[in-house]
Amino acid sequence: MPKNDEACLYMEGKHSREEKHSMEERHSREGEYSNEASPHGQYNLKELRKAMKEVQSSKRFEHTKGVEYTSAALAMRYGASMEDALAAGLLHDCAKCLSDDKQLSICEKQGLFVTETEKRNPFLLHSKVGAYLAWHKYGIKNQDVLNAVHNHTTGRPGMSLLEKIVFVADYIEPGRKEAANLTEIRRLAFQDLDRALLKILEDTLEYLEGRGSEADPRTRETWEYYHSLYEDKGEAKALQSQ
Ligand SMILES: [Fe+2]
Ligand SMILES: [Fe+2]
Repeated sequence: MPKNDEACLYMEGKHSREEKHSMEERHSREGEYSNEASPHGQYNLKELRKAMKEVQSSKRFEHTKGVEYTSAALAMRYGASMEDALAAGLLHDCAKCLSDDKQLSICEKQGLFVTETEKRNPFLLHSKVGAYLAWHKYGIKNQDVLNAVHNHTTGRPGMSLLEKIVFVADYIEPGRKEAANLTEIRRLAFQDLDRALLKILEDTLEYLEGRGSEADPRTRETWEYYHSLYEDKGEAKALQSQ
């Protein structure tokens, strides 16, 4: 379903030099928001839900709700902040309603680095543009929540607990039906989050390779990072056989 660009209400950037400098610092290529205080639990979740319902198609909004409550369930399981998980789950696809051109234009105006892979596959941009909107339009100041939005598509080496939760929730929420091994990954997600993460990365790379599609190098870097962690633990073989 096409996303409604008009409905996105994105406010074009008119920022002071200081604001732009600050934004560029925050939106590093790595998606690591490291220069902001991290208040927890200061979200108006009701308003955020209302905003997402307004800017997303009904199908996308169903997915958003699925990621929101699956993130909350994983936060309960692993002891992450429930409020952060709800906010990150709600906002993770907040830029999906923007056209590719609009997302590229936001990146250009706000100094967000666009990789060659992203230029060829602009749908990948919705993660970093989403983090920018979460901060600029929806008022999120928590760096972990912004990172979770920024990295929900490809992951990154050394993800925080919240980043892993949103990455996994995006893949396993109840509305997802088509991915291979979903039953196993859903079970794994509540047993061992890192194993679930690794399995999702493996399946994603395999799926893209099978279709002859390009994978973002960041997906492979993330897989290599978590695979080597298990190799160090002597568990890579066990993982491969699952
Ligand atoms: Fe997404
Ligand atoms: Fe999503």
